[in-house]
Amino acid sequence: MHLIAPESGVTPSEFAISYLNSSYPVGKPYQDTKLILNFVAREIKGLRERLGDPQEKPAYPTALEIGCGSVPISCASVCEDYHILQAGYLSAELHLIANWINGDPGAHDWNAYIAEALKCELFRNPTEDEVAARTKLLKEKITLSLCDITQEYPLGTASEFPLATSFYATEVAARGRDDWYQIIKNIGTTVAPEGTLLMAFTSNLKRYTLYDEDGESREYPLYAINSEDILTALEKAGFNPDEITVERKKITQCELTDDGITEIILVAAKKSSRAVAIR
Ligand SMILES: C[S@@+](CC[C@H](N)C(=O)[O-])C[C@H]1O[C@@H](n2cnc3c(N)ncnc32)[C@H](O)[C@@H]1O
Repeated sequence: MHLIAPESGVTPSEFAISYLNSSYPVGKPYQDTKLILNFVAREIKGLRERLGDPQEKPAYPTALEIGCGSVPISCASVCEDYHILQAGYLSAELHLIANWINGDPGAHDWNAYIAEALKCELFRNPTEDEVAARTKLLKEKITLSLCDITQEYPLGTASEFPLATSFYATEVAARGRDDWYQIIKNIGTTVAPEGTLLMAFTSNLKRYTLYDEDGESREYPLYAINSEDILTALEKAGFNPDEITVERKKITQCELTDDGITEIILVAAKKSSRAVAIR
C-alpha cells in the first residue's frame, strides 16, 4: 500500500486518527479548510442557480465525494441538495466517519467545521440550532463506500454522478506524473456528461507531516502538483476546457506554512456533453 509504508509500523487506524488530529483540530478549522468550505458553498449556490432548486424535485440526486478519508464535513454545503456517497480508501477512515454519524462519544467533534460551512453560506455566524440542524441533515444524507482512485472505475464498477468532489486525495495516491494523470482520468469516469467536478490540491508540496497522539511527528510523501498540469489532465479526462476554473489561494496561517503549505489550488470543472476521455 502506497499510503502507509509497511516498514513504518503505522496501522491504518493510527494513520486515520493522526490525520484528523493533525489536520482538523477540534474547534479551530485551518485556513485551507475554510477556503475549501467557502469554495464548496459558493459552487453549490452557483449550481442551484443554474439548475433550479433540487428541493422541489421528488428525489434528491446523489453526489460523490471520493477520497474522503476520515473527513465527513467537506460537503456540508452539499447535503441540502444531494445525498452524498462518501468513498474512502481505508475502512479505518470510514469507521471514524461512521462513529460520528452514530453519535459515538469518542467521535471527532466537527461542530466548528459545520458552523464554518454555514457561515460561508449565510455570510453570518449560524445559531446553535442551525448547526445542529445541518449536522443532523448531513448525517442522514451520507452513505459510506470504499474506493480506489488508482483504478479506472474507482468504485469498482462504472458509475456516474451529476456532482463529484475530491479534496487532497490525488497527490497522496499518485506515485508520479503519469500516475497522477491516470488518477484524474479515473476520477473523471465518475462524473456524468455535463456534470461538475470540484477538487482541491496542495500546490507543489512534496510531503506532509502528521502527529500521533503522543505528539510524535511522521512525514508522508506527496506527488507535487503543478497547477499547469491540472488543465491538461482535466481536458484529457473529458472536461470542457472552457468550463474549468483553477484558483490558486495563498496560505498565510502559520500552522500550515510551518508545514510547508504555501498555496492550495481549487478547481471546478464541467464534463463535456460528449465526455470522451483521451486514453
Ligand atoms: C490528505 S488525505 C485527504 C482526506 C480528505 N479528503 C480531506 O480533504 O482532508 C488523503 C486521502 O487520500 C486517500 N487515498 C490515498 N490513496 C487513495 C486511493 N488509491 N484511492 C482513494 N483514496 C486514496 C487517503 O485514504 C487519505 O484519506
